[in-house]
Amino acid sequence: MNLGVIGCGKMGSALIGGALRAKLIATQQVWGFDTIAAAVDQFCQTTGAQACSSLKDLADHCDTFVLATKPHQVRGVLKELGHSLAGKPALLISVAAGIRLSALEDALPENVRVIRTMPNTPALVGKGATAYSLGTRALPTDADTAAALFSSVGLALSTPETLLDAVTGLSGSGPAYGFIIIEALADAGVRQGLPRADALQLAAQTMLGAATMVQETGLHPGVLKDMVASPGGTTIAGIAALEQNGLRHALIEAVAAATLRSQELSTL
Ligand SMILES: NC(=O)c1ccc[n+]([C@@H]2O[C@H](COP(=O)([O-])OP(=O)(O)OC[C@H]3O[C@@H](n4cnc5c(N)ncnc54)[C@H](O)[C@@H]3O)[C@@H](O)[C@H]2O)c1
Repeated sequence: MNLGVIGCGKMGSALIGGALRAKLIATQQVWGFDTIAAAVDQFCQTTGAQACSSLKDLADHCDTFVLATKPHQVRGVLKELGHSLAGKPALLISVAAGIRLSALEDALPENVRVIRTMPNTPALVGKGATAYSLGTRALPTDADTAAALFSSVGLALSTPETLLDAVTGLSGSGPAYGFIIIEALADAGVRQGLPRADALQLAAQTMLGAATMVQETGLHPGVLKDMVASPGGTTIAGIAALEQNGLRHALIEAVAAATLRSQELSTL
């Protein structure tokens, strides 16, 4: 596999960094192109990849592509890339939010297989959560490629495209919910007299610890919650206050609102 990155920004760089660290690919197999020369220079310096001077140059060197421009830039890229890939078997993996598989397939020649993904920001620190959907022309080995690539920066799950808006509402938008919860817990600690820096560290580590326990024990979060809520104790008093103030309902509504917005924004 020779991997070409179209758009050497945050997500393109994070993915290649992960793939290199996981030894999925070697630096000699990675090529990058960006319309901003400084972006591709930076990308090549940090990853060791080779720079391409145009999309055509990238298409000549690679058989697998990560499309990581902003969604509104995708249409122009596909048009140009399609010409360069005519007749050449290739796989294109898009991370662009809201760009449907049908739009990607319609804009590219038959010989280009397509995968659409929805990663999230923690991919930048190797703790991402990504869902990916296969296009109609994709092969089982393409699914393996996507799973390996996104597993190198966190969790990777296969899902039907019809569920990608819900994924956007949950894991795509979820880091912001997590940041707010951590900030609010830190504020709460400060209100109870803790120094700000200590409160923030305690809040973030507590959320990280809770998430890790869910993943590592495989226990339902309700069971883990029951295990730490002793009769008449402090935790159940806190839980009662959370329920009274609707945290659970607020999160359900947040995911619903973000899913709806994702449906509205899905273009093409
Ligand atoms: N950053 C995230 O956490 C995140 C999460 C989920 C999805 N995404 C998706 O990833 C994509 C990239 O986001 P990002 O945050 O990395 O953006 P970014 O702005 O950091 O990177 C985009 C890069 O694309 C380049 N570019 C623009 N037009 C181009 C063209 N015609 N050819 C080649 N390069 C071109 C830009 O110069 C820029 O360097 C978006 O479509 C976004 O929806 C990002």
